[in-house]
Amino acid sequence: MHRMLFSYLKRLINKESVAIKIKTPEQIEGIRDSSKLAAKTLKYVEDFVKPGVTTLELDALIEKFVRDNGATPATKGYRGYKHASCISPNEVVCHGVPNQYVLKDGDILNIDVTTILNGYFGDTCKMYYVGTPSDYAKKLVETTKECLCLGMEECKPGAHLGDIGAAISDHAHANGYSVVYEFCGHGVGLKFHEEPDVQHIAKRGTGPVLKQGMIFTIEPMINAGKARCKIDRRDGWTARTIDDKLSAQFEHTILITEEGFEALTDVYGDF
Ligand code: MF3
Ligand code: CO
Ligand code: CO
Repeated sequence: MHRMLFSYLKRLINKESVAIKIKTPEQIEGIRDSSKLAAKTLKYVEDFVKPGVTTLELDALIEKFVRDNGATPATKGYRGYKHASCISPNEVVCHGVPNQYVLKDGDILNIDVTTILNGYFGDTCKMYYVGTPSDYAKKLVETTKECLCLGMEECKPGAHLGDIGAAISDHAHANGYSVVYEFCGHGVGLKFHEEPDVQHIAKRGTGPVLKQGMIFTIEPMINAGKARCKIDRRDGWTARTIDDKLSAQFEHTILITEEGFEALTDVYGDF
């Protein structure tokens, strides 16, 4: 009895009690196709990210591209969210609601797209430069990309989920940045958000053990200033840094393979 209670608490503390789905080969194929389309959408919109364009215009282009390719945008109608993408400029951490904001030279911008293709979900986001970025902004963006890379490199059967967050937070902190802890990565594929939560700050050796066939996102949000976020009171979604300093994010959908991992949304070999 005591031993059971003890192991239950230990699992709870380490979040090991979560039921993480192992995807079948057929499901993996479906999620791979959806992930590919999400990545292609981010590539497609690249040419339109220019000074003078509004984020609402970008969202309309994204929606058309996704639908023209036989898919639907997962965010549309999700918990009352009305758009096909999240578009997060500068101090916006994530869940930026597309609006009349006009992009200007020097802005940094995150676009996050989740597709549903044949019932399967693929989720990815990346950063864009509008015109020429400052060295300050560029360093944040590049470091955030490195954080995702380092997190991905921890992924293999037998590793702990916490190893990912440990690698990410070590690198961010070493560069003087903070790691957002109010939003995290997530299991994905059959639903938009599945178990487990993927924390971007974590302790090595904690959390569930990774197994072949698991699929989840890694999507670190790294801030130039403080880690805390505030939610826009008017749209109820847009999350900004508490100090209005810059934030950056990259996201991939990751499959655990026999050998290690496959980034299903990294179709251009950027990583
Ligand atoms: N795509 C986001 C993620 O990476 C979730 C957006 S949910 C929304 O998890 F409702 F804000 F669109
Ligand atoms: Co995600
Ligand atoms: Co996303």
